[in-house]
Amino acid sequence: MALKIDIITLFPEMLTGFLCESILKKAQEKGKVEIRLVSPRDFAKDKHKTCDDKPFGGGSGMVMKPEPVFRALEKVETPEAHVILMSPQGEKFVQKKARHLAQKTHLIFICGHYEGIDERISHLADEEISIGDYVLTNGALAAAVVVDAVVRLVPDVLGNPDSALKDSFSNGLLEYPQYTRPRVFREEGVPEILLTGDHQKIEKWRHQQSLEKTKKRRPDLLLSYKNT
Ligand SMILES: C[S@@+](CC[C@H](N)C(=O)[O-])C[C@H]1O[C@@H](n2cnc3c(N)ncnc32)[C@H](O)[C@@H]1O
Repeated sequence: MALKIDIITLFPEMLTGFLCESILKKAQEKGKVEIRLVSPRDFAKDKHKTCDDKPFGGGSGMVMKPEPVFRALEKVETPEAHVILMSPQGEKFVQKKARHLAQKTHLIFICGHYEGIDERISHLADEEISIGDYVLTNGALAAAVVVDAVVRLVPDVLGNPDSALKDSFSNGLLEYPQYTRPRVFREEGVPEILLTGDHQKIEKWRHQQSLEKTKKRRPDLLLSYKNT
């Protein structure tokens, strides 16, 4: 059964190119995912299709109104849907969460805009996800980041299913260095071990490289790796 994904965003055009390329495109063609872009503007009832208003209590910027988002969600929601609000105030997105979301059958992403959303919209969500400690102008790109990471983990989406198992974070470490042809490029050669054909030794070398890279770049990951 295909994983259904609905992205509720005021800027669907920002994502149309993203959905028509590479793995996302192939995943839809293979029938592994069904992705719909839903604009709250289509659910605004006034003639100007208003989706924002001034904040109660004063202050700068505009706030995303609840009614169009509620109606958009009611249109696409199913009993099995898992609703995610994209927010810089949410839990930070990591690979483990991507794996968890890839097992769901229906994901709905709500993307904010303007100064923020009416807090009542947050009550619609099962969880809030942030893609990092910085603030984007709207949630479309943030949702795209999560969708991309999730879709490549849906079974049979990647041509070689083993490749995702070796990715950074999958076993708690950063991935080892990779090389392809040419064997020597601008005077830098490929490590000799990779040319030996000795798969046991290559695996050992790769694991060692993974450990060293992680120690150097992300020592925080090693703490939980040692405890696994
Ligand atoms: C300009 S931001 C609003 C930020 C809000 N004023 C705050 O300080 O928390 C507008 C929208 O972009 C999205 N967004 C911005 N940064 C994000 C992040 N790091 N992760 C996920 N979504 C983000 C959210 O949907 C948010 O509602």
